[in-house]
Amino acid sequence: MANPSLLILPGDGIGPEVMAEVRKIIDWFGAKRGLAFDVSEDLVGGCAYDAHGTPLTDATMAKAQEVDAVLLGAVGGPQYDDLDFSVKPERGLLRLRKEMDLYANLRPAQCFDALADFSSLKRDVVAGLDIMIVRELTSGVYFGEPRGIHTEGNERVGINTQRYTESEIARVARSAFELARRRGNKVCSMEKANVMESGVLWRQVVQEVHDREYPDVELSHMYADAGAMQLTRWPKQFDVIVTDNLFGDLLSDLAAMLTGSLGMLPSASLGAPMANGRPKALYEPVHGSAPDIAGQGKANPIACILSFAMALRYSFDKGDEADRLERAVETVLAQGLRTADLLGEEGAQPVSTGQMGDAIVAALDASL
Ligand code: IPM
Ligand code: MG
Repeated sequence: MANPSLLILPGDGIGPEVMAEVRKIIDWFGAKRGLAFDVSEDLVGGCAYDAHGTPLTDATMAKAQEVDAVLLGAVGGPQYDDLDFSVKPERGLLRLRKEMDLYANLRPAQCFDALADFSSLKRDVVAGLDIMIVRELTSGVYFGEPRGIHTEGNERVGINTQRYTESEIARVARSAFELARRRGNKVCSMEKANVMESGVLWRQVVQEVHDREYPDVELSHMYADAGAMQLTRWPKQFDVIVTDNLFGDLLSDLAAMLTGSLGMLPSASLGAPMANGRPKALYEPVHGSAPDIAGQGKANPIACILSFAMALRYSFDKGDEADRLERAVETVLAQGLRTADLLGEEGAQPVSTGQMGDAIVAALDASL
């Protein structure tokens, strides 16, 4: 049988340097666990714009549709701030999400014990935290029409539209309920049903899907603003949170920071199953391109490495190997190894991006 295929899109800023560490991990699984991948690499974001005048070429888009999984680093940078909206680096990422129809964005916020003191919250509030935000990723205000900026009389008007169909809500709700069954069996759905009709429909459809298909899962509803408050007050009350595209964008950044470092958190964006049964999938760190530290060996490669662990789990049905990789990450953190984003404690051992990758490979070796 052919090896599973991976398309790697390192992107901009720290994307290429964190992805170089992921390549070490991928090579390790090929050499030591008989898990060989056919890896190809291409451009996305600002670097694609520089080379081709577009943040994502049709050829790269077509390749992304064919492979078993896409692994993306990060896109964007200040040199692209003044570009026309239609060719901004972020449009490359949004096109991938939309055309691959990756409607369920899984963003775990997990607090590594060794890092609990990095949180801005007290240790007991975050220690052991393990929540999963399921963000709807292909609809809502990010994509709704009409949109744009036009002139009315003597002033400009900016418009975006929040729009959700019943089926869009139902399918992401199912993803959340399925995940909950394999975790703490609890889902909290967040919207603004008190002010938005799309929120009223969201709440109704999530409740209907629950009552019809997942009555065994504990379901609650919260207004998204109250949800933000509860996330900082006592985050451990949550297991799975399901929410729309924009609220999910905000709440997942908030949840990420509870854990101490954005540099630690992976994500998976999943769509419908392909002919081979694997979901369409794109994996990426939650952090951005961090242009201010790019190229200095300061970036933390762990979020991107853990994104590959999610690929092992959700695309390749290798949960045991994903566990192995996650344990290797825990091991190096427990040893005190820290990239620049995590310095400050006593006894911390500063390491570069590359040294962190090497240490994780060594921990993988030790796991055999
Ligand atoms: C994210 C990012 C993106 C988003 C940007 C880069 C388009 O903030 O993945 O959370 O808003 O979805
Ligand atoms: Mg975001």
